[in-house]
Amino acid sequence: MTKTKGRVGQGRDFLAIPGPTVIPDAVLNAMHRPAIDIYTGSLVAVTERCLTSLKTVFQTQGDIYMYAANGHGAWEAALGNVLSAGDEVLVLESGLFAKNWGESGVLQGLNLQFVSSSWQSAVDYEQALQILQSDSKHRIKAVLAVHVDTASGVVNDVQRIRGLLDQADHPALLLIDCIASLGTTRFLMDEWRVDVAIGSSQKGLMMPPGLSFVAANKKAKAAHQKAQLRTHYWDWTFRDGPEHYMKYCGTPPEHLMFGLDCALDMLLTEGLDAAFDRHQLLADSVRSAVSAWGSNGLMQFNIQQPAERANSVTTIQLAEGYSPQTLLDWCEQNASVKLGITIGELNGKGFRIGHMGYVNAPMILGVLGVIETALYALEWEFASSGVAAATKELGVALQQ
Ligand SMILES: Cc1ncc(COP(=O)(O)O)c(C=O)c1O
Repeated sequence: MTKTKGRVGQGRDFLAIPGPTVIPDAVLNAMHRPAIDIYTGSLVAVTERCLTSLKTVFQTQGDIYMYAANGHGAWEAALGNVLSAGDEVLVLESGLFAKNWGESGVLQGLNLQFVSSSWQSAVDYEQALQILQSDSKHRIKAVLAVHVDTASGVVNDVQRIRGLLDQADHPALLLIDCIASLGTTRFLMDEWRVDVAIGSSQKGLMMPPGLSFVAANKKAKAAHQKAQLRTHYWDWTFRDGPEHYMKYCGTPPEHLMFGLDCALDMLLTEGLDAAFDRHQLLADSVRSAVSAWGSNGLMQFNIQQPAERANSVTTIQLAEGYSPQTLLDWCEQNASVKLGITIGELNGKGFRIGHMGYVNAPMILGVLGVIETALYALEWEFASSGVAAATKELGVALQQ
């Protein structure tokens, strides 16, 4: 039996967590079809189209590998294809995900060195530079960082990280997780000379979870020749083989591929620049709302520097004495909006608004409206109307 929703909750539920995100009906419909042959015919064309489109999304001429896996799978694929047990890896933290990625490599036998962070700012570029400069024997084989960290809500400057390696004249591979930035935030793999980049289906790419992608340039492919952590399922060499099934190392997740084909077509038809612009406008409106509500101290951005706040997700800390769960429960139970909890070190401290993927003005302004309604209903005193601030921000930005 369907649970009765709150008094203004009947209608379509809205998922405002930072992934998985809203799946367009067109993508859902594309997957709703019988299975087809996996060796010949239209699936081969779907694979080719998706690989070509993914190159555009990653902005690379390198090779793309697709895995029936979530982001954790892609992390393992990336490390295993270019590194060997005992290799040293420099992990640039800025939240939960670079740390977890690095730690996932411990079982693979990698040695980690962390550049730690407060989780309230981008990676510590200065410290990273010092470590790279002092590594005169080039023991560090790879540098790991996340473009957008969905736990802290930060966006790191990947081009600047590339610049640190150049400045230190260091040959380490640069590995970037762009799981939460692909399709939402400009990422230029080749221009920024990122050697390995990672994506996942369930965020800016508007798809269900279950597919992940690793893009590799020539330098990464050369490192792959010597890597000893390769295993059959993730192995690029096997996946470069001539048969179609090799690209998936087994039965292709064909329904996910039908969906991906549709989602990538939607994204590229909109245009990457237009999608980035949309995310910027909507993120600016969310930030205006948070600033307006919070200027009396009720809430604050987790990321302190405005330029380091991501366009995919906003992480908000609530003042002492206010329970994030109360706010989240109110929004879900009364108005069918599911906001994100804060995770990792920020667990219990606030909430997250996901604003990436298939989102437009009514969706995001609707979420902000529900949050403001909750603040009234809970009698939490806020400084001024976030909805008014957000609509003004967006309206002024969209003036002819
Ligand atoms: C930036 C980033 N990297 C990696 C992951 C892990 O991905 P998955 O949960 O699909 O394994 C997430 C999940 O939210 C993420 O936001």
